Amino acid sequence: MTEIVVPLPEMVSVSLTVNGSLQTLSLDPRTTLLDVLREHLDLTGTKKGCDQGQCGACTILMDGRRINSCLTFAAMYDGAQITTIEGLAVNGVLHPLQQAFIDHDAFQCGYCTSGQICSAAGLIAEGRAKNADEIRELMSGNICRCGAYTNIVAAVEQVVGRS
Ligand code: FES
Ligand code: FES
Repeated sequence: MTEIVVPLPEMVSVSLTVNGSLQTLSLDPRTTLLDVLREHLDLTGTKKGCDQGQCGACTILMDGRRINSCLTFAAMYDGAQITTIEGLAVNGVLHPLQQAFIDHDAFQCGYCTSGQICSAAGLIAEGRAKNADEIRELMSGNICRCGAYTNIVAAVEQVVGRS
């Protein structure tokens, strides 16, 4: 059997609206969304932990849904709306989840925090979590190596209770 090799284009043009700002980039087609944010747009609030889809540190919102940006090729989402931790506050007022994380002291080193908050924002938009057990289950993809889970769940529960 003859193997057909389809060459990848060297660069592709990708347009993304990131935190309300339209960005048009020329990218290697293998560039992940995480690397676009951190390396091309200097939005370093989104963290690279495992780079394999296992820790949730890179969680962002794409068209309102939470995704692991390390597993996502940017070129597949031309035209998407992206929200990162830098885009959650409005006019200098923290997002209720950001405030709740402060109120509940829901972090230690902070490395997982942007992913936790973006994941929680997506979870609340899904409308599926109603109590602490469901929050724990539905955010189980977001690992906190500092073990701040009790406070993280309390913070998310506070905002779920208001929504
Ligand atoms: Fe993406 Fe760990 S860095 S899931
Ligand atoms: Fe350190 Fe979660 S606060 S990993």
